[in-house]
Amino acid sequence: MNNLIESINQAVGEALQRVEAAENAADLEQIRIDYLGRNGLFPELSRQMSSVAPEERKETGRAFNTGRGSIQQALDDAGKKLGSDRTKAPKGIDVTLPGRCPRVGHRHPISQMAEECVAVFGRLGFTPMNGPELEDIYHNFDALNTPADHPSRDAQDTFYLPDGRILRSQTSPVQIRVMETHQPPVRIVAPGRVFRRDTPDATHGMNFHQIEGLYVDRNVSLADLKSVLQYFARELFGKDVKIRLRPHFFPFTEPSVEYDFSCVVCGGKGCPVCKNSGWIEIAGAGMVDPAVFRKVGYDPEKWSGYAFGLGIERLAMLRNHIPDLRLLYDNDVRFLEQF
Ligand code: PHE
Repeated sequence: MNNLIESINQAVGEALQRVEAAENAADLEQIRIDYLGRNGLFPELSRQMSSVAPEERKETGRAFNTGRGSIQQALDDAGKKLGSDRTKAPKGIDVTLPGRCPRVGHRHPISQMAEECVAVFGRLGFTPMNGPELEDIYHNFDALNTPADHPSRDAQDTFYLPDGRILRSQTSPVQIRVMETHQPPVRIVAPGRVFRRDTPDATHGMNFHQIEGLYVDRNVSLADLKSVLQYFARELFGKDVKIRLRPHFFPFTEPSVEYDFSCVVCGGKGCPVCKNSGWIEIAGAGMVDPAVFRKVGYDPEKWSGYAFGLGIERLAMLRNHIPDLRLLYDNDVRFLEQF
């Protein structure tokens, strides 16, 4: 028996002892690395084979192979045993505890409400559209028949960029963009973010979300608008919700209305949410002004239509009983994950 065979046998003995004492899979892996791994003892021993006398090579080779095989076998057996034996799991880990669930996010309540609005109007045949948040003055004001001296155009109310563009102050410019590129009939909704220079408080922010609606066809009337808004209110807040339209002014609709829900908190009796009036303002709306049709090249003698713009935050707050708008913008997951 030569020296190499002795070394092999000794290594096998050691390795088997260590396998016997191993407590977990990591221990076994370390043994595998130490003996059979690329820089382990067995590859090292195999390199010494060339110094063995030719007549002893066969025997040495056999010792080498059997040794390596028995270590591998011992590792495999021990691995299987550890896998089924919980008492040998690493200390400090209780494998009987339930696993940790990965945290799954969900959509923000504002996005949820926007999607719900799109779905309700979708059932009435309205197609969702988008427009840019960075708008030009023409689409945000001029094409919407808003005179040059209208207060909403003030730098105190609208964000102007150095290049003369603005952050859109309403989703109404999407009406223009759609009519510029589509021939009537048109039936679209456009949800999105708008920007105004308001001082943030419980009901105002510097940006908020609206959903714009536009319907253009032959012989569209205010009654059509009212029925659609009534349907929308009931879909969102149940069959008992009443709506009312109040005369108002917008440059791009004539006649114009503001549209209220009966208070969904007190049912119209009067409470702090509706400031004791029994009604909550939800949207501006009206019949598309003929001047707007002329801007986009529609013939106002032939086509008529209505438009509306709803505030999404307001709806999300009413739906989820959120008293302060700023809670929706703090991005505190402890708050948001409730919805
Ligand atoms: N754009 C108006 C606003 O932001 C709302 C509106 C939309 C009014 C469509 C009439 C028609 O106040």
